[in-house]
Amino acid sequence: MSTWANLGLQDSASPLMEQLIFFHDHAMLILVMITVLVGYLMFMLFFNNYVNRFLLHGQLIEMIWTILPAIILLFIALPSLRLLYLLDEINEPSVTLKSIGHQWYWSYEYSDFNNIEFDSYMIPTNELSTDGFRLLDVDNRIVLPMNSQNRILVAAADVIHSWTIPALGVKVDGTPGRLNQTNFFINRPGLFYGQCSEICGANHSFMPIVIESVPVNYFIKWISSNNS
Ligand code: CUA
Repeated sequence: MSTWANLGLQDSASPLMEQLIFFHDHAMLILVMITVLVGYLMFMLFFNNYVNRFLLHGQLIEMIWTILPAIILLFIALPSLRLLYLLDEINEPSVTLKSIGHQWYWSYEYSDFNNIEFDSYMIPTNELSTDGFRLLDVDNRIVLPMNSQNRILVAAADVIHSWTIPALGVKVDGTPGRLNQTNFFINRPGLFYGQCSEICGANHSFMPIVIESVPVNYFIKWISSNNS
């Protein structure tokens, strides 16, 4: 979860988010190098006294400064494509969770387990406990097993919503009449917070997501206690 003055990415809690952070750092490094080089060149132009009135073209330098940026862009495009296909891979999930966006709350269905279903509303500020997180905690959390592949199916009932958990590197649009799919692997226990990230109406800011990541045997206990 993001806390005060955290402007960067959250620590990853899944292998995919780890890869996303690596790619972000890689792209940022290239960006900084280009900015410094171009900034230096532009700054140095102020102090250049050389003038050549007959310089109208230079085939060689034009070739170099056209092809070189294209090659640099390839070093961003190819890792980006690798990551894109990695994010779309479904690795034999052991749990499937269906999440449906509504104005303005999420509802969840565990279709594999006797179709457990429940709504998940934000806890209003005046009902929050002292250790609760304002605009972020919900009344009914999603419980998912850690160290296993989870499949998430996302849809919406009214307008477009987006099911987003930054620490897990998940962001899937919930669209009415469609079923989107993604998967993730949580590699530690704990609470993971997310929010809707598709402008979906007046209370868009007030439909958070909370995942409770627990060991597999705890998950089985939870799922069987809900089945009776
Ligand atoms: Cu749902 Cu924004």
